[in-house]
Amino acid sequence: MKTKEVLIAPSILSADFSRLCEEIEAVEEAGADMIHLDIMDGHFVPNITIGPGVVASLRKCTALPFDCHLMIENPEQYIPAFADAGANMISVHVETSVHLNRSLDLVREHGAKPGVVINPATHLQGLRYVVEDLDYILLMSVNPGFGGQEFIPSTLEKLRDLCTLLEDLGSDAMVQVDGGIGPENAGEVIDAGARILVAGSAIFHHPPYEDVINRLRDPGTSQFPSPNSEQH
Ligand code: DX5
Ligand code: ZN
Repeated sequence: MKTKEVLIAPSILSADFSRLCEEIEAVEEAGADMIHLDIMDGHFVPNITIGPGVVASLRKCTALPFDCHLMIENPEQYIPAFADAGANMISVHVETSVHLNRSLDLVREHGAKPGVVINPATHLQGLRYVVEDLDYILLMSVNPGFGGQEFIPSTLEKLRDLCTLLEDLGSDAMVQVDGGIGPENAGEVIDAGARILVAGSAIFHHPPYEDVINRLRDPGTSQFPSPNSEQH
């Protein structure tokens, strides 16, 4: 049920990397609520993207919140650097953090909002023990590593289960979903309880950005092509 405003987080993984600042300015102008930055280390996921230096440079392009999704091993080693670079939200994969409460505390100590990410095949159960330490939970709806992958349908059931769990726990943590989201399935994802939609290829490969961001936020009956035609 759609009861709260839906926030749109464009993932710059699918943006033109030679014009990142312009791309960020363009999605801000088009109504984005935050910028999603995918940080990949070539170990936890089979792809390498950007580090804190690039994040610090991009910080000059916009005042929108930076949502850093850490797909890296040893996240605690790098959390201070990403926070210092200007990340406002930092999410850590449960699969990479042996001491998850400590990771989340570290994010908060450095002035950012902590989030936990879980892969499609990772169960929800452990979340109940860290829910008081986090501001948001990111459900992956693809296996992380690349943009332009197909949305995994079982995410919808998992999303509903997560929302029930949060309600039972009395938590107001925000729920974010990431991977394979476009105007053709955003309605289902919102109805299942997502509050923040991450979208990369659906936005950056389908300009004008304002149209697609509006359709993601309020999908209605829009007919849009699948965003999942290629990988990056
Ligand atoms: C995948 C990343 C996603 C990705 C989403 O590992 O975490 O943020 O950029 O891209 P799309 O929206 O194209 O699936
Ligand atoms: Zn992501």
